Amino acid sequence: MVDVILGLQWGDEGKGKIVDYFAPRYDIIARFQGGPNAGHTLYVDDKKIVLHQIPSGIFHETTTNLIGNGVVLDPITLKRECESVAGFGVDFRKNLFISQRTHLILPTHRALDKASELSKGNEKIGSTLKGIGPAYMDKTGRNGLRVGDLLDKNFTTQYIRLRLKHQRLLDGLNFQEDISSWEEEFFEALEFMRQFKIVNGEYFINDWIGRGKSVLAEGAQGSMLDVDFGTFPFVTSSNTISAGVCTGLGIAPQKIRDVIGVSKAYCTRVGAGPFPTELLDKTGEELRKTGNEFGATTGRPRRCGWIDLVALKFACMINGVTKIVMTKADVLDAFIELKVCTAYLVDGQTTVEVPFQMTRVKLEPVLKSFPGWSSDTTSLKNYHNLPEHMTKYIQFISDFLAVNIAYISNGPARDQLIVNL
Ligand code: GDP
Ligand code: IMO
Ligand code: MG
Repeated sequence: MVDVILGLQWGDEGKGKIVDYFAPRYDIIARFQGGPNAGHTLYVDDKKIVLHQIPSGIFHETTTNLIGNGVVLDPITLKRECESVAGFGVDFRKNLFISQRTHLILPTHRALDKASELSKGNEKIGSTLKGIGPAYMDKTGRNGLRVGDLLDKNFTTQYIRLRLKHQRLLDGLNFQEDISSWEEEFFEALEFMRQFKIVNGEYFINDWIGRGKSVLAEGAQGSMLDVDFGTFPFVTSSNTISAGVCTGLGIAPQKIRDVIGVSKAYCTRVGAGPFPTELLDKTGEELRKTGNEFGATTGRPRRCGWIDLVALKFACMINGVTKIVMTKADVLDAFIELKVCTAYLVDGQTTVEVPFQMTRVKLEPVLKSFPGWSSDTTSLKNYHNLPEHMTKYIQFISDFLAVNIAYISNGPARDQLIVNL
């Protein structure tokens, strides 16, 4: 049996905290897409840690963690992350497994990401510059190197061949930076990786499922950044939605039980691209300040706005969401008035659908106003003790989406989660 936790917006919904909370109920936590562009924040004994590639179950001793074939893996970041979790007493050699089919991010992929963004000028995507796009391009272009190739005696020859190809592309883009220090670190990290359990991920996970064990698939990014269904081209390069679990781990769709969608009580986006409910005024600034909305991977300020129910309903549809976790509800505690977007006006026409084209049209949100609850909710534990205006806000959203908001997160700590099942 497989449950999924994934983001319903533009990433950074608080997935890391929620996966860490649920992890003890599962035998395996598996990442199925994305790579070091992800930044999942967890608090362990009041200490903050940001995970990029290691699944967020790593702090639970009995949980097995798998990096699936759908991920693109940067060995340099992995080594750094392993060293940082080891500082918390985690024996990553024991419970971290990597699929041999997982594609590697090479230093030249990072250089290509940077060169490609530079060449786009004003139209740049705002990539995290971790090499994600170029690594996935080499996967679908059938050129990439995989973790299993490390065990091949011809690995260095294959590496040099791909590097040469990348160099020609970089020359074409007039990219001048010296990446030799990245390369040195890359080869050190490859040596480090040899100590891991490199497995046949699809057999590994299906064996566990066959023995009645439970799997939690941990999504990265968010549904509106999905390469097919997001705000293309301002998206990431993988399928972030529940369908990605099947291809990213090698499991059949009927094995999936719950799809738990995580959404903030408002909305943020980091990087460029359409954001219909964005607030460019004092209220947006207030959300950023109260919500501490700065990127966990890049430190960039996140763009902030009201919750967008048109985009959320679309995300619930394409993912088959069965339960919602609403995070950062406490961030709205002091707002006098709240708004939710219930439709879009596209070139003067009202629609409740996410349009194909969001950049070359005039798009405005239709907003419905709600009174704020003006009280501190961070220490509340029980749904029935929430302020009335807060439950009304939550109920409206839940009714609109026709999905139960089963958990409300009211702070970054593990125990700040209210159950509403
Ligand atoms: P992820 O990428 O989805 O895992 O999310 P990030 O870690 O990038 O960003 C979420 C941020 O919100 C982190 O700093 C979390 O510690 C914080 N956070 C998570 N849930 C809550 C919550 O309910 N309330 C508040 N105030 N912060 C939260
Ligand atoms: P988590 O897992 C928020 C955004 C980038 C950029 C676009 C493409 O922490 O929620 P990429 O590096 O993938 O080429 O960038 O996607 N992006 C994220 N935004 N959270 C993330 O991950 C993101 N990963 C990528 O800002 O706009
Ligand atoms: Mg994040």
